[in-house]
Amino acid sequence: MNILEIIAKKRDKKELSKEEIEFFIKGYTNESITDYQAAALVMAIYLNGMTDEELFNLTFSMANSGEVLDLSEFGTNVVDKHSTGGVGDKVSIVLLPIIASLGIPVAKMSGRGLGFTGGTIDKLEAIPGYNTSVSIDSFKEYVHKIGISMIGQTMNLAPADKKIYALRDTISCVDNIPLIASSIMSKKIAAGANKIVLEVTYGKGAFMKSLEDAKLLAEKMESLGKYAGREVKSVFTPMNEPIGFAVGNTLEIIEAINFLKGKELPDDLKNIVLEIGSYMIKLAGKGDNLEENKKKMLENINNGLAFEKFKQMVEMQGGDASYLNDINRFEKAKYMVQVKSDKKGKITEINAEDIGKLACELGAGRIKKDDKIDMSVGIVLNKKVNDFVEQNELLATIYANDEEKCKIAVEKIKNIIKI
Ligand code: URA
Repeated sequence: MNILEIIAKKRDKKELSKEEIEFFIKGYTNESITDYQAAALVMAIYLNGMTDEELFNLTFSMANSGEVLDLSEFGTNVVDKHSTGGVGDKVSIVLLPIIASLGIPVAKMSGRGLGFTGGTIDKLEAIPGYNTSVSIDSFKEYVHKIGISMIGQTMNLAPADKKIYALRDTISCVDNIPLIASSIMSKKIAAGANKIVLEVTYGKGAFMKSLEDAKLLAEKMESLGKYAGREVKSVFTPMNEPIGFAVGNTLEIIEAINFLKGKELPDDLKNIVLEIGSYMIKLAGKGDNLEENKKKMLENINNGLAFEKFKQMVEMQGGDASYLNDINRFEKAKYMVQVKSDKKGKITEINAEDIGKLACELGAGRIKKDDKIDMSVGIVLNKKVNDFVEQNELLATIYANDEEKCKIAVEKIKNIIKI
């Protein structure tokens, strides 16, 4: 078997066999297949799609490219959650400590930013000292000790996805049903939870632009989960404007901290967190009544238990928790420019994809695979769609470390926020 024949077969719209898919995944993981060959095959998959059988084989060979965790030591209901990606999406960061504070074990493996969307792992790394790259033994030990761990894909879990995920980001092959379904489900299968809630986003700031496509993606992921013996529930989240107000790594961590402290709970973020969380609690066998579940979650924000759990997790993973107590300690961007409205009116659109791209241009995301992220830059919106604004009222603040990029962002955002 050789990779050139496999690329040519997919290029010519033919179906790949299980052996051919496994050959590619093994070869790319052990680096006998190069990035440019993998890029060609991924692009051919993007353009020509995959049959259900190919998708099944791709997902399972990606899941089996490293270790597959057995989390049964944590009980029969270990719950996980994954988002198909969004802008300003700090849902996992606030939701999972709330779930853990209710006594439900959380063992979560998250991804980095992809395309114009941010990634939970990049955001967690905005907390000085927080180590997202830990061994499987430490990961399990943390869950045993405090009931939660959130780590990156740096250890030997679905390493093929880690490589393909980073590659897709740099060759414009992100927004594609088989590639997203195999990426997410290979990670979820390898990470070991047997109950999984999927946050399937759709709209201008999501990879799936319509609810119809989001449903198709969810269907594929649910059937892959079923094959693997996992119970999967999909929750559909509209993503036309960013979630909450902050976009950018440190800025989103600060918004998440304020949320967990019960200080500021933006309506959209709150509703998504409660909706997904209520299903996680149900799947964990801790309550069938979704409204009651939401109440329990709010209670643990108000009584401080959720924030306490977040702090414990940060400390356990080497992070400096003093930043959580005093958010002013986070490093600030060099330029902070307020953008004000030049007219009075109603906000009709804040395109999430445009905001995500703007944040990337400021340095909050990657253009090339090995780009370093600038943690402190981004955008904090002051308004949501349907809000009213007065002339000269604050619309958003741009956080930048480069004067020229800052100037460009100030001009661009005036066109992105439609009044
Ligand atoms: N999240 C993932 O883990 N993979 C994707 O492809 C998209 C979102």
